[in-house]
Amino acid sequence: MRLISARLIVSLIVGITLVSLAFSFYEVQIEKSNLRRDLERRAEVLGESLAGNVERSLEKSTTRDLQRIVERFGNREHLLGIAVYDQQGARLAVTPGLGQRLVSTPLALDQAVIGNHPAGNFVYLGPESAHVYTLPLHRDDQIIGVLAIVHDASYIGAQSRHVWRQTFQRVLVQVFLISLITLLIVRWSLTGPIGRAAQWMRALRMGGVSGRQSPPDCDFLRPLAHEVATFAQSLNQARFAAENEARLRDAGESLWTAERLAVHLQARLGDSRLFVVSNREPYIHSRQGKTLEVMVPASGLVTALEPVLRACDGMWVAHGSGDADRETVDSIDHVAVPPDDPRYTLRRVWLDKDEEEGYYYGFANEGLWPLCHIAHTRPLFRTSDWEHYQQVNRKFADAVLEEMKDTERPVILVQDYHFALLPRLIKEKRPDARVAIFWHIPWPNPEAFGICPWQRELLDGLLGADLIGFHVQSHCTNFLQTVDRALESRIDWERFSVQRRDHDTMVQPFPISVDFTDAESPASTPVCDSMERPLLLKELGVDAVFLGVGVDRVDYTKGILERFLAVERLLEKYPLYRDRFTFVQIGAPSRTHIKRYHDLLNDVEAEAERINWRFQRNKWKPIVFLKGQYSHREIHRYYRAADLCLVTSLHDGMNLVAKEFLAARHDEQGALVLSRFTGAARELRDALLVNPYDLSQTAEAIRFALEMPPEERRARMQRMRRTVRENNVYRWAGNLIAELCEVRVEAARPAAAAAHISGIQTNSPAA
Ligand code: G6P
Repeated sequence: MRLISARLIVSLIVGITLVSLAFSFYEVQIEKSNLRRDLERRAEVLGESLAGNVERSLEKSTTRDLQRIVERFGNREHLLGIAVYDQQGARLAVTPGLGQRLVSTPLALDQAVIGNHPAGNFVYLGPESAHVYTLPLHRDDQIIGVLAIVHDASYIGAQSRHVWRQTFQRVLVQVFLISLITLLIVRWSLTGPIGRAAQWMRALRMGGVSGRQSPPDCDFLRPLAHEVATFAQSLNQARFAAENEARLRDAGESLWTAERLAVHLQARLGDSRLFVVSNREPYIHSRQGKTLEVMVPASGLVTALEPVLRACDGMWVAHGSGDADRETVDSIDHVAVPPDDPRYTLRRVWLDKDEEEGYYYGFANEGLWPLCHIAHTRPLFRTSDWEHYQQVNRKFADAVLEEMKDTERPVILVQDYHFALLPRLIKEKRPDARVAIFWHIPWPNPEAFGICPWQRELLDGLLGADLIGFHVQSHCTNFLQTVDRALESRIDWERFSVQRRDHDTMVQPFPISVDFTDAESPASTPVCDSMERPLLLKELGVDAVFLGVGVDRVDYTKGILERFLAVERLLEKYPLYRDRFTFVQIGAPSRTHIKRYHDLLNDVEAEAERINWRFQRNKWKPIVFLKGQYSHREIHRYYRAADLCLVTSLHDGMNLVAKEFLAARHDEQGALVLSRFTGAARELRDALLVNPYDLSQTAEAIRFALEMPPEERRARMQRMRRTVRENNVYRWAGNLIAELCEVRVEAARPAAAAAHISGIQTNSPAA
């Protein structure tokens, strides 16, 4: 830094000096020529006014008159004197004092006589500079003599020297001030911030600061800081993964990690590539004024699949739904994500308003969603929605087929109820592709599913897949029973597979999960847990002792209203918890374009208000409803601070909030109250299982969660955490893909192999 300061200062000194000198030189030249011109003009004026008198005196030939004239005019400012010569150059009269200086005849005299016009020169009279002006004197057009006017010109030189002196003084002062200012700026704006940034980077490297925290007051370093933070985060994650691997090796455990999944996928995929297709994209770009923002949507599917894609550099094909999505893709609709640290490619597919309305809001979310969730909202089946659903499935199939055209034996994981027709559409064109579809929501019993007018088309589309995954066994059974009732096919109840049109489809449960290691990594815990609760309550402006939390999309399947009513029941039955227990509900508005969802959002707000109005006292209130999209980081703060987490879905495929809560509780504190109608309830037997329709039971479970002996709470939490840790999302993806890669794809299978499979039962379609 010293070298930079010295270089900066020397460059400034040289620059300033050169510029000042150039300006001063120019100024001196101008000043000099002005003064000279002024002197010449003065000599001319004096010459003209004297010439008449001198000519007359010359006519009379009186030297005394001449002498008197020259003496009279000889004492003007800067005038050294006047002399009169005859036409031969003999001096006739001269001002006293000038005589000794004018030792020789001035050059200008000859010039005036020869040229017969006035002439002027700057000459040196001894050491002094002078200006000699000569004017021919006439009688009848004959030159009879010459008048010489001599001015002192030394003051012009003195003036120039004065200007130069001033220049040097100015340069000196400027150099001093500029050097001082430069030093201060370097110190304040460079040395200081860089020093602090270096400290911050050191802390990052050592893992002491959260990667997302920016260094203080270093605006110009922010882009660099951002890169460094991302780099350090990757470094910490790698370090953490390596330590974790070492720990696991040491403990002889075979836990699934991102690294293990990456190796597993490489071995399974070989030269092939993984393609994931879903409706919801993992990163949504939107414009907020002039800035471009990236948002990760609230979706269990995104939470689960993001770490998988990161681990294998695959491609994710999804609907580009953000208002700035088109700005961020390249010419083939690709964008590398995550934006901060690209690991895989997102291919966006564009839908127009009608398509989105019919396929997404209509058929998928007003038809299939309520059809599959037994939550007592009636499904709506409109023909136009169904047509859009088919059209969009075809559109996605075209996009996927285009993306994988150069990939041999591609592996495709289709996600969810938005794309029931996609497996068949892909398989028809690419029989060598391995296609799985994972159904993230429940599959109801055949009677419930049978009300869908297009159930056979949906089932046929799904059975194009080689593998269909559900969260739990009962959904697989429901699915096979539905196929059994609706389609002509052969069902192998031992292997849980369906054969239709000479194609086998395996149906298996794969309980989805979360990235447990990520929740445990040190970067995710910036504040000590015991500090978190008072801090959060202070931010909310609430005084409370106990804290409960719920995190959901605002969806009627999540049982949010039932949860609020259970809190109300708790306060009615156990007044002890008034003034003490506060429940915070984080609710991300979802699908609000659909009236049912729009109304639900209002109902949730109104219900929270009603219960608060009934019980609220001083700075305490029973329910805080935080409406909006909250980042994983913010949500984790609540998970870690809460005494309990309430998951009261009326029906849910899995529910990853329950698992995220457990993963966040590395302090092994906190209790989970969990609806028995979630897929998660099958695995998490140590949760306090409730029927969310039974408000008293939920209220009792809340009370028990708060009053449970600490050892029991810890033991339950430890067991549940172990379950989630072992059955994490990497295991889910690893198992699913391993199973899919075991499938013999049609193109590679000889026709004879489609023969008899033992235990097969043939059925015919239901009427
Ligand atoms: C459920 C579905 C997902 C969906 C998510 C969010 O988890 O299974 O497919 O992405 O809800 O819903 P949204 O309609 O906002 O994508």
